[in-house]
Amino acid sequence: MMKICSIVGARPQFIKVATLSRVIKNRKDIDEIMIHTGQHYDDNMSKVFFEQLKIPQPHYNLAAGGGHHGLQTGKILQALEPVLVHEKPNLVIVYGDTNSTLAGTLTAVKLNIPVAHVEAGLRSFNRDMPEEINRIVTDHIADFLFAPTRTAMDFLAKEGLSEHSVFSGDVMYDSVKFFSKSIRQRRPFYHDYYLTTIHRPANTDNANHLLSILEAFHSFQKKIILPAHPRLRRALNQLKIPNNVQIIEPVGYLDMLNLLFYSDLVLTDSGGLQKESFFLNKKCITLRDETEWPETLENNWNMLVGADKEKICNAEKVKCGEYNIIEKFGNGHAAEQIIDYLLKESFKC
Ligand code: UD1
Ligand code: UDP
Repeated sequence: MMKICSIVGARPQFIKVATLSRVIKNRKDIDEIMIHTGQHYDDNMSKVFFEQLKIPQPHYNLAAGGGHHGLQTGKILQALEPVLVHEKPNLVIVYGDTNSTLAGTLTAVKLNIPVAHVEAGLRSFNRDMPEEINRIVTDHIADFLFAPTRTAMDFLAKEGLSEHSVFSGDVMYDSVKFFSKSIRQRRPFYHDYYLTTIHRPANTDNANHLLSILEAFHSFQKKIILPAHPRLRRALNQLKIPNNVQIIEPVGYLDMLNLLFYSDLVLTDSGGLQKESFFLNKKCITLRDETEWPETLENNWNMLVGADKEKICNAEKVKCGEYNIIEKFGNGHAAEQIIDYLLKESFKC
């Protein structure tokens, strides 16, 4: 029996862990302990995902939500150590690039517990992003690096990490494929609209950027549906919202895929939503200057425009070329490949 501790804390990690948990449930030789750091804690940022995606209820919640980076990371380190000492897992699995990823990895590594990093090797080459620091540190101290794309494999190789790296494909692609039938069967909530999300501090915490984005939205003929992350909600309180922008509460994953599926265009600074737009063959305008997912840029399916009003407006008019997703994000079975690999490796020890 192999005992795994899965460490998650933020919205996109719940979606990622769901794919592995689904595989683990069908394997008799793995016992999964779910540890929620508490980084995201509102029901619509956390509970809804556990319910909709049937993720095992957390065995532990470390209640480390809020606070700046040092405080949040420190709270997780402090609360997680006794849990891992007590559970004595054979392996810890971390996801993505949040403070929960970094703190989970650091705690485990210091206890000599092997760590697997799902979604390894992504780089924006922008060290102002807290996520970039989290990714680099995690990749350099974790034991098993599961890369979602060939580009990620190349970055890991350039950093001397080839021996630890495995191309698994993207678990978020698994997820969209898994739910693709039910996405198509559901009816739309709205008609004739663009979908947008904004949550990066570079946009939410910079009034000029946010104003410029809202001005661009104001110039569009379409209605814009905006499920607002709490970080954005706070920033918007001070601003006038254009009439065509409809702000709604954050929605659950299946509702989000529905909003995406029936939208005419996506505008976002989210990593996950950029990819999901590509998976569902929707044009995406990314409100950032760089992306960790260069595969999506091919033939204008994704365009990097930052917070520049003119560039956003110009990108709206651009036509996309040929669409090709084959092999870019794996075959939709990344989670199975990761679990099979880990089982094989752990029995070697
Ligand atoms: C975090 C991740 C980011 C990821 C995003 C996914 C880091 C450094 N950042 O950013 O990589 O893209 O999650 O959404 O780990 N808040 C609430 N309720 C909640 C959650 C947050 O009110 O349920 C508020 C808190 O006041 C908090 C703020 O939002 O201070 C920001 O939350 P935090 O988890 O620190 O960062 P995110 O912006 O969500
Ligand atoms: N998402 C969701 N509800 C929302 C907004 C986003 O379910 O109201 C999903 C989205 O479809 C994607 C994931 O959350 O699967 C992306 O998370 P987020 O944008 O918070 O973080 P990032 O991917 O940028 O780290």
